[in-house]
Amino acid sequence: MLNIENLTKAFGPNVAVDAANITVDKPAMIGIIGRSGAGKSTLLRMLNRLSDATSGRIAFEGSDVTALQGAAKRRWQSECAMIFQQFNLVPRLDVVSNVLHGTLNRRNALATMFNLYPNADIHRAIDILDRLGIAEHAAKRAEALSGGQQQRVAIARALMQDPKIILADEPIASLDPMNAQVVMQSLRQIHEEDGRMVIANLHTLDTARRYCDRVIGMRDGRIVFDGTPAQLTTGVARDIYGADASFSEAATSTEIETLDRPEGFKPAAAASPELA
Ligand SMILES: Nc1ncnc2c1ncn2[C@@H]1O[C@H](COP(=O)(O)OP(=O)(O)OP(=O)(O)O)[C@@H](O)[C@H]1O
Ligand SMILES: [Mg+2]
Repeated sequence: MLNIENLTKAFGPNVAVDAANITVDKPAMIGIIGRSGAGKSTLLRMLNRLSDATSGRIAFEGSDVTALQGAAKRRWQSECAMIFQQFNLVPRLDVVSNVLHGTLNRRNALATMFNLYPNADIHRAIDILDRLGIAEHAAKRAEALSGGQQQRVAIARALMQDPKIILADEPIASLDPMNAQVVMQSLRQIHEEDGRMVIANLHTLDTARRYCDRVIGMRDGRIVFDGTPAQLTTGVARDIYGADASFSEAATSTEIETLDRPEGFKPAAAASPELA
């Protein structure tokens, strides 16, 4: 369903993403790992057309995403919602209004100006917040919530777009381990229950292993690993991170597995057996 062929992005002489090839044939939960500067964000930005590729092609369900312009490009951007490390909420606005912003691309300017939303959209926003366990905060200002709650508001806003793909750029990098776990679990749940594809850039190996079906490792703009968590051995990880002999998994770990799991937590089916 998603085909990325020889996708390349150069900033002057610096090649940020170098001929990336990725094929996804069913909605999967994919983690992208690699050290800082490896090209993870650039790859995600090209996927939802925030940034144009220098060369190569992205095709989704048969249509050429790289060629979309105008309204068709905006439609694609709402089909692949993006979530960021810093949540990108409007801090002083209440939670529901932040979530309703996910419908902006299909509303007219006047309705937007006066903050008028159809009742059906408001109910849907609250249902989505409820599903993510934060409906009780619906009327609060976004800035009054914890980081983990704010990231779930951002996920709710993304879901308002009813996207086929959720792209998450370091969604848990600013969160403490407990909140990180709740947010990753929400993404996993959305993937499993709705069948949406999730592609997340992740700083830490253990998170990718634990929540993703498939892990892609990038190094210096190139894809150097593409496989299951079980195939991601310490040797492979050392190659991805380009670390020397002192490399240790602890250095890239959020240590979330040492914490208690929230109620009802179900480890990802494909995650490595020692975590089950
Ligand atoms: N707008 C830009 N202009 C010039 N160079 C850029 C730009 N964006 C990214 N780069 C360069 O492209 C390379 C890849 O950057 P990118 O942000 O994709 O890495 P990353 O893997 O997301 O890193 P991090 O883990 O730090 O977020 C880096 O060398 C970076 O300096
Ligand atoms: Mg990045």
